[in-house]
Amino acid sequence: MRLANKVAIVTGAGRGIGKATALTFAREGAKVVVNDIDAKAAQQVATEIESMGRQVLTIKADVSQSKEVNRMIQSILQKFGRVDILVNNAGIICRGSTENLSEEEWDRVLSVNLKGAFNCCKAVIGVMKKQRAGKIVNISSIAGKMGDIASAPCYGASKAGIACLAKSLARELAPYGINVNAVAPHAIETEMSREWSNKKRKSIISSIPLGRLGQPSDVAEAVVFLASDSAKFITGEVLDVNGGCLMD
Ligand SMILES: NC(=O)c1ccc[n+]([C@@H]2O[C@H](COP(=O)([O-])OP(=O)(O)OC[C@H]3O[C@@H](n4cnc5c(N)ncnc54)[C@H](O)[C@@H]3O)[C@@H](O)[C@H]2O)c1
Repeated sequence: MRLANKVAIVTGAGRGIGKATALTFAREGAKVVVNDIDAKAAQQVATEIESMGRQVLTIKADVSQSKEVNRMIQSILQKFGRVDILVNNAGIICRGSTENLSEEEWDRVLSVNLKGAFNCCKAVIGVMKKQRAGKIVNISSIAGKMGDIASAPCYGASKAGIACLAKSLARELAPYGINVNAVAPHAIETEMSREWSNKKRKSIISSIPLGRLGQPSDVAEAVVFLASDSAKFITGEVLDVNGGCLMD
């Protein structure tokens, strides 16, 4: 097992990529903190993890709210006494052109996707520094590298931000033995991508050299790698999980 007894937080773990990551972490031996704003979904994931014989803590918290995040970290420390891994996965998308995008939508997407990751990093860094060990993985997106017109411009901007946040923190925290990386997925089959028409789905698949959409488990496996000791000499990296759609 690659993560035996590690305490791992996955934000937005109630469904999709976060859920797959939480379950994969549990399979790899981790004690998992399942965070989501959807308490019911988080509880369902926790029940699956418990049935695997692993310890789990479910915490309803909105990552965009620093008070809620700080409370979450306190509860984790009370139960497990440490934090080894943080996966900043919680994210939202919105559609539309720049001219139609409201200031409120811009703020909402940036608050969850970028400030949410900052809030969580800020809350765990002190603990990881004391431990002189820790792994942080931010879930970015191909949209943060290439831009995107399928989503509103705030989405790609937030995803570029979260990738750069990983690089800045990788530099800041390297002296403390903390690795910070990002994963940049594309075209993963989740609720977020379920609204695609068949036509769009086919056109996306035709742009992917591996000839299929990604599964949440494809991202989860990349995250486990970056969160494990196999990746101990990797920091500040943005790992593409996109079937070869972008090779940079
Ligand atoms: N699906 C894709 O193709 C794709 C591609 C690139 C990047 N991503 C990124 O991967 C991550 C997960 O995507 P997904 O497709 O699994 O999304 P999803 O919408 O299926 O799941 C997101 C989860 O985050 C939770 N969440 C939303 N706001 C939250 C908040 N403020 N605090 C805590 N939890 C919150 C939701 O309740 C939900 O359970 C997102 O950051 C997304 O931007 C997804």
